[in-house]
Amino acid sequence: MKILAIETSCDDTGIAVLEVKGTKSSPDFNALSNIVSSQIEVHKKYGGVYPAMAKREHQKNLIPALEAALKKAEMLKIFNFQFSIFNEFLMSKFSKLENILERESDLFKKLIPFLKKYKKPDIDLIAVTNGPGLEPCLWVGVNFAKALSYFWDIPVIPVNHIESHILVNFLENKDIKFPVIALVVSGGHTQLILMKKIGDYKILGETRDDAAGECFDKCAKILGLGYPGGPAIAELASSVIASEPAGKRGNPEPFHKTLDSRFCGNDISLPRPMINTKDYDFSFSGLKTAVLYADKKIKNKNKKYKQEMAAEIQQAIIDVLLKKTMKAVKDYRAKTLILGGGVSANKELRKQFTKKIKTETFGFLPNGKKPNQIKLLAPDPELSTDNALMVAVTGYFHRKAMRHPPGVLKTLKANANLRIS
Ligand code: KG4
Ligand code: ZN
Repeated sequence: MKILAIETSCDDTGIAVLEVKGTKSSPDFNALSNIVSSQIEVHKKYGGVYPAMAKREHQKNLIPALEAALKKAEMLKIFNFQFSIFNEFLMSKFSKLENILERESDLFKKLIPFLKKYKKPDIDLIAVTNGPGLEPCLWVGVNFAKALSYFWDIPVIPVNHIESHILVNFLENKDIKFPVIALVVSGGHTQLILMKKIGDYKILGETRDDAAGECFDKCAKILGLGYPGGPAIAELASSVIASEPAGKRGNPEPFHKTLDSRFCGNDISLPRPMINTKDYDFSFSGLKTAVLYADKKIKNKNKKYKQEMAAEIQQAIIDVLLKKTMKAVKDYRAKTLILGGGVSANKELRKQFTKKIKTETFGFLPNGKKPNQIKLLAPDPELSTDNALMVAVTGYFHRKAMRHPPGVLKTLKANANLRIS
């Protein structure tokens, strides 16, 4: 089967086409296209994402992204005749589309010429992110999916954004062993999830305030770095990490002093919030505040200071994520650890998780039985951040719950606070 997927939950406009072959229990995924149209340039000036502006950009980007995705998948076929405005059937369909896209009139204006120009593609299912995310952005994708579903008469399936950050790992990995512990770390979420099988999730813990990605972004703003902050901090930190004696960083002691006074003439330490609590929750807003106060004390904000600070911020976040995740892995005797979400693109985070998984003794059994073997999975970095391919994979696994037009027009809704469990 072929799935067309749509992702507009935040500031990336994604359209993908996924072909699935193989058997039900062992599907073979073949990504025919995966187009991500980033809005970074637009939001950079403001240091963050403004939903109304992101909604406008999604409306602008969706048709070019759809065109590019179908073209790459070799599914873009031009009609060899002109539509007549006297075709009443079509006119009534277009007017229905206008209703569906009532609040996305810019998108409607771009969609009509597209539908007049190209034939219905060979697609069996449309998958769309319906939450969680920024509500106005989610609605653009959802209403676009409804419009295509209605016009082309293709069933549609709503997809949970958090679940798709996890299930993208199934794209290239077969025989994933359960139970799985999944750490989803993005700009909007930080959750530790116990997964007994696909579709069976329990949130073990989550952030009580800012998400890990949000913390990267806010700290980057304090340091005067670009948006998004995660890659900017990672880049700055990498020069310090590369020149550092092995073993200096990665010591998850709260309030330990890592900023070297040789470099910035100041003695700054960042906290590791909630690192030793018995639950699986996180808190990152205090870390951001600590960075703000520390930064105020620095007079000479030279490059070396920024590099040191970036490395310390990154390490503080990694320390907390690593400690809580390993606790969940041990407590639930997980067989697989899955990382997902934008922050999981972070190289240093991956390196330290990989090292921990290799060196830690899991499930040590005094009766001589083999210790639990853990496998660590993380998507290609470009699939860690928002994209539509992950939506397509998730749509495939839940295809039984697909909704057919015209019922879908009433029942499909965006939900900014959608929960995985
Ligand atoms: O999953 P995602 O693309 O969007 C949301 O669902 O939020 O995640 C975006 C977040 C941003 O906060 C960004 O700064 C962070 O992921 N991020 C990173 C890296 N790449 C993206 N954080 C740390 N290191 C990175 N390399
Ligand atoms: Zn995301």
